[in-house]
Amino acid sequence: MRILVTGGAGYIGSHTVVELQEAGYDVIVIDNLSNSSEKSLERVEELTGKKVPFRKIDILDREALDKLFSEEKIDACIHFAGLKAVGESVSKPWEYYENNIAGTLTLVDVMRKHGVKNIIFSSSATVYGDPAFIPITEECPKGICTNPYGWTKSMLEQILSDIQKADPEWNVVLLRYFNPIGAHKSGRIGENPNGIPNNLMPYITQVAVGKREKLTVFGNDYDTHDGTGVRDYIHVVDLAKGHVKALKKITDKSGLSIYNLGTGVGYSVLDIVKNFEEATGVKVPYEIGPRRAGDIATCYSSAKKALDELGWKAENGIKEMCADSWNWQKNNPNGYDD
Ligand code: NAD
Ligand code: UFG
Repeated sequence: MRILVTGGAGYIGSHTVVELQEAGYDVIVIDNLSNSSEKSLERVEELTGKKVPFRKIDILDREALDKLFSEEKIDACIHFAGLKAVGESVSKPWEYYENNIAGTLTLVDVMRKHGVKNIIFSSSATVYGDPAFIPITEECPKGICTNPYGWTKSMLEQILSDIQKADPEWNVVLLRYFNPIGAHKSGRIGENPNGIPNNLMPYITQVAVGKREKLTVFGNDYDTHDGTGVRDYIHVVDLAKGHVKALKKITDKSGLSIYNLGTGVGYSVLDIVKNFEEATGVKVPYEIGPRRAGDIATCYSSAKKALDELGWKAENGIKEMCADSWNWQKNNPNGYDD
């Protein structure tokens, strides 16, 4: 089976390409490199010992996609390509709706034209909004998103579900990721954010490596065990393996399937700081700041459905997630420029 990986040069995509190749799948990657470097794919090749065919293509470019599908045998698409910065999406909503929604519509249109009706889509726990209950099962109703990025995920889930309903030849798997952190054990690939990181773990590793002075904890007055926000952090390699398992739903011709990819365990911001310090021996100075707009108190998954139906569960614990994030950061303080 040959898998097209869109956004495959990015953080989750590059880790997924490793797992796909190691599981014996053929891949082809497209990416416009707007938030990534082709060097990640060179490193994937080092790790797997296999070539990673790559074309620099924007998913908004219908002609380029059409040519790709005419020239290459493709059986299914794992679709990571998208913009993902929550704060930026608030100031640039048009760019987010255009890139993520128009881009996916273009991709899906070209796919159906070429008779490729299998897609695994990167969705997010953000579609649950402020969740109706915890732990969050897939039956939890979708909620009000607090930013345009979240709405692109929520709307794309609806669009892909409607397309599958209208044409049952489609097999659509919506994977709702919780909070991916960590990096490949080799320390050769990892997360490489541009500028000041928005997310907790890259901020912590940049403080640890001396690039930033201290972490600001966004609020300690939430209704959680220590007042700081609780999330379900998942090792990116476990997440990547979840995609390989989800291909079963494509081969089984399962129609529409939805899975949470999380661990089922919640950690607070201060739990993460403590675990990071214990796992790495490096201190992380922090101060308590105000809450960040749009944040919720608690978000963690029930990971039962993916276990029952895909036989997938996250294997790495929080210490490994912290140690692997640090191993990547300290060996590559400047990301792929090192
Ligand atoms: P990333 O930015 O590292 O990867 C996304 C890739 O898509 C990048 O390489 C970027 O260059 C590419 N891309 C963006 N727009 C494109 C376009 N128009 N055409 C072609 N390529 C394009 O992000 P990631 O963390 O690896 O996320 C992958 C997917 O998972 C995204 O869809 C993201 O929204 C989703 N997701 C991520 C998280 C997270 O916390 N990292 C959580 C939930 C969902
Ligand atoms: N946090 C801090 N200081 C920081 C950064 C984050 O205290 O400098 C806190 C946040 O307030 C939150 C927790 O750390 O309590 C996690 O924040 P992240 O920004 O790392 O992650 P979010 O849960 O806010 O959002 C992430 C992705 C979204 C995705 C969501 C899925 O950014 O795209 O996970 O659950 F939708």
